[in-house]
Amino acid sequence: MNILITGVAGFIGYNFASFFLKKGNKVYGIDNFDKYYSVGLKKKRIRILRQKKNFFFDKIDIVNKNRLSNYFKIKKIDTIIHLAAQAGVRYSFKNPEKYIDVNIFGFLNLIEEAKKNKITKIIYASSSSAYGESNKFPLKESEKLNPKNIYGVSKMINEEIAELYQRIYKINFIGLRFFTIYGEWGRPDMFMSKLFKSYMTKDVFYLNNYGNHLRDFTYIGDAVQIVVKLMRKKFNEHEVFNICSSKPINIYNVVKNFRKNRKVKVKLIGINKADILKTHGSNTKIKKHVSNIVFSNFYKAFYKTFNWYKKNEIHKF
Ligand SMILES: NC(=O)c1ccc[n+]([C@@H]2O[C@H](COP(=O)([O-])OP(=O)(O)OC[C@H]3O[C@@H](n4cnc5c(N)ncnc54)[C@H](O)[C@@H]3O)[C@@H](O)[C@H]2O)c1
Repeated sequence: MNILITGVAGFIGYNFASFFLKKGNKVYGIDNFDKYYSVGLKKKRIRILRQKKNFFFDKIDIVNKNRLSNYFKIKKIDTIIHLAAQAGVRYSFKNPEKYIDVNIFGFLNLIEEAKKNKITKIIYASSSSAYGESNKFPLKESEKLNPKNIYGVSKMINEEIAELYQRIYKINFIGLRFFTIYGEWGRPDMFMSKLFKSYMTKDVFYLNNYGNHLRDFTYIGDAVQIVVKLMRKKFNEHEVFNICSSKPINIYNVVKNFRKNRKVKVKLIGINKADILKTHGSNTKIKKHVSNIVFSNFYKAFYKTFNWYKKNEIHKF
């Protein structure tokens, strides 16, 4: 299997690549080292991946059609895991254009290349943000999408394009609606990294909406295991799956638990208009497709992530 991972310098891309490399697969990776968050952290991830001889990295922007086209002419890819994107819901209010450029045009460029090069297996990242605000918990894949921000809209459009390309060009797609993925090499713009950073630097931690958010936190190791098992099965037209533990956790309680034995200065602030109050997905569909899924205990994986963060002094990146 010759796998291409887009966004390989990112949090989820790095973790997927590490897994496949350890299994002895050849992994091709592309990323443009976008400046949305620490480029140093992204480069560090790539340096680690490069220690494996079966990893081949190229710095490519998926918005650049010609560059992407030349790349596909040379490489023999049979499966694409598409994770490159402008992530983050709050930033989508500051720079909406970027979400359209990277998440929609970039996605289209990539699947046009798949079409030209007869690649018929594409796994791509959608998001729980495609659901928007809802009260029909746990959210099933069949639920109507009603995104609340441009980021969610861009992911919903990806799903619609995938559906269309499946019907017309017979490319098989798996769409992954990730729910708040956390763990080693996590994104610095997300809740956990910010909390750990405040502890390390003694800076104030700003807790949005006074902590009254519920998040269906899903450990990266669990997400990787699920997707790998899913990939071993027959790719069937276009299927979308929630990737979630289906156990929403109150953010205030997480902060409280963390502060039991540690000092962190916390400032409670109001709600950010980009944020969704609660995420809670159903994982019934994925459990039906893939057997023996085991989800990590939240606090065990949370403290494992914290110990990794502290040991590697990630706040310095
Ligand atoms: N982390 C989560 O909880 C979560 C939740 C839902 C969906 N997702 C989706 O999963 C995917 C991976 O997310 P992540 O958390 O690893 O984010 P990330 O930002 O760490 O990784 C994305 C990578 O894409 C790269 N990239 C951005 N623009 C690019 C471009 N034009 N060309 C090439 N590379 C580009 C970035 O440099 C980055 O390394 C994204 O599609 C994201 O929207 C993540």
